[in-house]
Amino acid sequence: SARPVPLSAVEAKDGSRLPTGIGELDRVLGGAAMKRSAILVGGEPGIGKSTLLLQAASLAATRGRVLYISGEESAAQIRARADRIGLSPERVEILCTGRLEDALRALDETKPVFVIVDSIQTVYSPEAGAVPGTVNQLKYCSHELVSWVKERDAVLFLVAHVTKDGSIAGPKALEHLVDTVISFERNDEDIRFLRALKNRFGSVDELGVFQMGEKGLSPVEDPSSLFLVRRAGELPAGVAVVPVFEGSRVFVVEIQALTVPAKGAMTRVFSDRVDNARVSRVAAVLEKRTGIRFSDQDIYVNVAGGVRLSESAIDLALATALYSARTDLAVPAHTACIGELSLAGEIRPVSRLKARVKAAQSLGFTRVIAPEAESGSSAVPGIKEAIASLFGTVKSS
Ligand code: TYD
Ligand code: MG
Repeated sequence: SARPVPLSAVEAKDGSRLPTGIGELDRVLGGAAMKRSAILVGGEPGIGKSTLLLQAASLAATRGRVLYISGEESAAQIRARADRIGLSPERVEILCTGRLEDALRALDETKPVFVIVDSIQTVYSPEAGAVPGTVNQLKYCSHELVSWVKERDAVLFLVAHVTKDGSIAGPKALEHLVDTVISFERNDEDIRFLRALKNRFGSVDELGVFQMGEKGLSPVEDPSSLFLVRRAGELPAGVAVVPVFEGSRVFVVEIQALTVPAKGAMTRVFSDRVDNARVSRVAAVLEKRTGIRFSDQDIYVNVAGGVRLSESAIDLALATALYSARTDLAVPAHTACIGELSLAGEIRPVSRLKARVKAAQSLGFTRVIAPEAESGSSAVPGIKEAIASLFGTVKSS
């Protein structure tokens, strides 16, 4: 029976992390996987969950026994994937089953340090009702597996399929059962993003970036230029560049805007990657401070490469893209903009300015407009001055 003990008598266990051997995955987990923890790996079918975890399994096998439990694929299919990627499959043990009781027995026998259950939606137990695949089954089986790992110096990965629209109907019910939830996402190309949605043992703002190739997933270690659109000569009107932070790394991204006269009395904002409220607010500040009208325009905003931007440091670049779109004046080449915009039209300081300026400069942006002068960037106090400095004049309508 459980008895209380003085907290001082408990040994603080640190250094109890287990690296997966995949740097980008470890980064998202907060440095490495924590022992005695359960990690839910979500993502749409085909995105690369099995590939990632098989690669991790093969690397982690140097640290102890690894058990890969698959209810989705046959052992032969998994072997074929390992061969395709060029993994050494010697140390990875495989069990193809959907039965929870078989899985638990194998766990007790092999005592692995690294366990992968692919996927949790294929695990069932007669204890949890007659029908496999119900939320009840999902919860019961996950709870049993998580209970197993809580008592062992091991790490448990539970793979969960998530539908494209992001509704994780089934797996959502598991989020509170596990310590960490990481999600695999993609843009239009073969780039894959890994981010933590919940992490009991680290921050949730680190982004892992991979490329899916012929031989599985490989890390993109310096992704700062990943989303940059390279253009020769003049820029089209409506685009502006800003360095943003995703976790501890800078990405230089391009914001694209388009304005068209609204058909009716109602104007609308279409913006998937930047919050609509931010777009409306920045447009309102621009209208008020420069006199150019947005209140009769429909506004479209996009971000090249499909990243979502939520930092306030993008305000100035967003304003610049909107102004450029509305006036048809292109932003001068090799120019980046950084800054938060207040309702009064002032350009407010942003965090980690130095690193942003440096990232932009290293990618060839020789002119950086920023709230404070920083190693070659020029400081502007307000949106009106920024517009005048970028476009030569302030046009109004
Ligand atoms: P998979 O890991 O099976 O996805 P999930 O487990 O999330 O459903 O990845 C399947 C996709 O990845 C499939 O479309 C084939 C592609 N792929 C590659 O492009 N290169 C590779 O080396 C591997 C193993 C898969
Ligand atoms: Mg799979």
